[in-house]
Order: sequence, then structure tokens, then C-alpha cells
Amino acid sequence: MSRKISTEVKSSVEGIGLGLRYDLATELLERRPETVSWLEIHPENYVNRGGRYQQMLDLARRDWPIVTHGLSTCLGALEPFDGRYLRELRSFLSDIEIPWHSEHLCLGGVQDRFFHDLLPLPFTDEAARIASQRLIEVRDAIDLPLALENASYYAPQCDDGLAEADFVVEVLERADANLLLDVNNIYVNGRNFDFDPKAYIDKIPPDRVVQVHVAGHFLRDDGLRIDTHGEPVPNEVYELLDYALRKIGPVPVLLERDNNVPPLDELLAEVDELWTIYQSATEAEHAR
Ligand SMILES: [Fe+2]
Repeated sequence: MSRKISTEVKSSVEGIGLGLRYDLATELLERRPETVSWLEIHPENYVNRGGRYQQMLDLARRDWPIVTHGLSTCLGALEPFDGRYLRELRSFLSDIEIPWHSEHLCLGGVQDRFFHDLLPLPFTDEAARIASQRLIEVRDAIDLPLALENASYYAPQCDDGLAEADFVVEVLERADANLLLDVNNIYVNGRNFDFDPKAYIDKIPPDRVVQVHVAGHFLRDDGLRIDTHGEPVPNEVYELLDYALRKIGPVPVLLERDNNVPPLDELLAEVDELWTIYQSATEAEHAR
């Protein structure tokens, strides 16, 4: 399947989005803030579920375009995919009219044990070959464009592997795929493993990026940064977002907040900050 994304559906997902998280949903769906242009959901919360989650989604779809972001179909694992889940996922995604679906470039577990965490891949040619084949397999199974997301990690890589950015580009090129560029993950990895996040972004082919994630992270006393999605977005990540959008153009940006979820007004203040950066990238593109 081509990686091309329907421009008609894509054009409805633009500007700044927010995750439809359970803690936020009641207030978000009641207030329907205009500054939130679209919503992202995790399909694992909805497939074969019904009840309050389905009710939330039905209400959300009245006002917002939806994009889906998977948590369990990890593209780098070795175990076969759950064919039944992929068929159910395809059915769910086709019902809610999304422009693309995304999954993480990582391992999710080993030998039937699922860790509910995003475990790192070795940045090798072999891992890139396996991940790209699996990406194509999932893309064919869901019959939709599929974007991979660059993940955060905390284990050092072997010296003879690729740089992370080169590994991500290798998988993208092999699978002719799209990228969900998480700038917080790049910032966290760059600070933890001493590389320049801007040099990483310079290596990304701009026309492959369909969506961006931004989030906050936790800084431990020992200096390690943990991708918690539980803190406000720090200035360094806003600056990296600005740098990325000026290079790739104004693609849709999602504010991720999954832990320590604050009152909605605090998130909307961050949404306003993101709009300022997004609009300035739009103006820069028009000036080209
Ligand atoms: Fe993300």
C-alpha cells in the first residue's frame, strides 16, 4: 500500500491536538475548547470495549477529527503479531475515518511477556530490516497509512550500531513510511546520551513527517531525564519544536499528557503556547 495520505482527510487534522484521556474527557467534552483542533486516542482503549469509552469517542467525533496512536503493536519485536487483534483494529479504524495510524518503533516484550513499556531496539541494519518488514505487515493489515514514532530509551547502545536518527531514517526509507516525530523523546534521548537533538532533526526527511508529539519529562536528581508525560512542556522542548516545524512545515502537533494530569485550563495554556509556535512556522513557510 502506498504511504500517500488522503489530502481530504489529512487537511481536517491540522493545528494543535490533545489526547482524549479518561481523566480529562468529561471536562473537555463539556467545554469543547476551540483552540483544540483534533484529538488523539489509543485504540486499545476502545476496540471491543463499549461503555464509557465508546460514549466518550462518539461525543468527541461530533466536534473533532480523530487520529489514533497504538500502544501495543510494537514494530520492532520478533514475535508474530496477533492477527485477530489486527483484524479488529482494522475494523475499528475504518469505522472512525482516520487519516493515519501510528505505532512505536520499539520492543514491547519478549517471548509472550508484554511489559507495557517501550523497550529499545538495537540500532542495527538487522533490526531496521525486521522493523520495516513488520511496519509493512501492519500497514497492509489495517489498510491505512501507518506512521512509526521514535521512542525514548534508557539503555546505552552498542558502539558498532547506527546513530538513532540514521536508524529511524533507515526504517522509514525501507518501508516507504511516515513518521510521528516526538520532539520530547529526541530531547530526552539527546540529553541522556549526549547527542545534539537539532542534528537529529536535520537528518529527518521533512516530507515523511505527518504528526508531531510534544510532552514534558521528569528530571531525576542524578541528571537522567525520564519521558513521563507527567510534567509541563519545558522551554527546551518548545524550542526544539520551533526548530522542527521551521524545517518540516506546520504538521499537526499533539500535546501528550498522561500522568499528573492538571486542570484543563493548565493544558489549554500549553495549547496556546503551541499555537504560537505552530503559527510562526506557518508564516515562515508562506514566506519561503
Ligand atoms: Fe509520543
